[in-house]
Amino acid sequence: MLSGLSVPTDARVLVDYRTSDDAGVYALGAETALVQTVDFFTPIVDDAYTYGQIAAANALSDVYAMGATPLTALAVAAFPVKDFDPAEIAAVFRGGLDTLVEAGVALLGGHTVQDTEVKFGYAVTGIVHPARVLANAGARPGDVLVLTKPVGTGVIATAVKFERSPAEVTARAVSVMRTLNRRAGEVFAARALAGVHACTDVTGFGLLGHGCELAAASRVTLEIEVAAVPLIDGAYALASRNRPGGTANNLRHFGPNVSEPPGFDDNLRALLYDPQTSGGLLAAIAPEVAGDVCADLEERGVTAATIGRVAEAGEVLIRLK
Ligand code: CO
Ligand code: CO
Repeated sequence: MLSGLSVPTDARVLVDYRTSDDAGVYALGAETALVQTVDFFTPIVDDAYTYGQIAAANALSDVYAMGATPLTALAVAAFPVKDFDPAEIAAVFRGGLDTLVEAGVALLGGHTVQDTEVKFGYAVTGIVHPARVLANAGARPGDVLVLTKPVGTGVIATAVKFERSPAEVTARAVSVMRTLNRRAGEVFAARALAGVHACTDVTGFGLLGHGCELAAASRVTLEIEVAAVPLIDGAYALASRNRPGGTANNLRHFGPNVSEPPGFDDNLRALLYDPQTSGGLLAAIAPEVAGDVCADLEERGVTAATIGRVAEAGEVLIRLK
């Protein structure tokens, strides 16, 4: 939406919307930069409290994806006044707050408007050392690609809407979505100048969409081993009948930059382009330290998967293998 605007250049702006990064970065001085992002969306689950938790985890994720530490949040909300239980609204805010507290982030305030459709999320502010920003750019040929959450939340959330998701599958997706990317982000940030070269979080554009953005910004090609991409248990079985609208958009937009093996499975394709809510972090890590980083992730309770490697720029941004 911003692409048509001509925004004046400002030397203090280190990262802005032009590089499709997760958050903007603005230098306050030599040691500190401000990191800012905003994200809100319509309910993804039936339970109001859980929706608030997921909205907070999702909004914070963009700050973690920059290698930054979130400090403060402002709630952004829209609720219909008629036919809407005030207790439900309170539960959304309570869920969000509990997740902010878990993350050590202070809620400063917010703004609520009336709307026919419920929407909720946060604007989040964090800080990072200007030299330690983890952006989409920076991945190098030879790097190992690590993903910190399984994919499939879009398919499962769609199945939930039509009451086609088994309870245990829904529970798995909820658990994935409300898990903070904090620990993964801290592990990557700790090695921002020591082998972790680039990072993004996997959200609306799906694994391949966000992978394309990382590849384009880094001027490389990602080689992804499809069999190594973790799927939420139960998502594959739901993928043929429960595709969110965003999947086709993602495929149309990013598909021309992705090459597939012959006879590629249509349900796997749907999951690789599946729009995620509060998905995992995708990082490009130097091979010499990738083993240590994965061990650190495991020690902190993050289940990370090595899903491929970075190659020299080729005809496409992503080669599926
Ligand atoms: Co993001
Ligand atoms: Co975002």
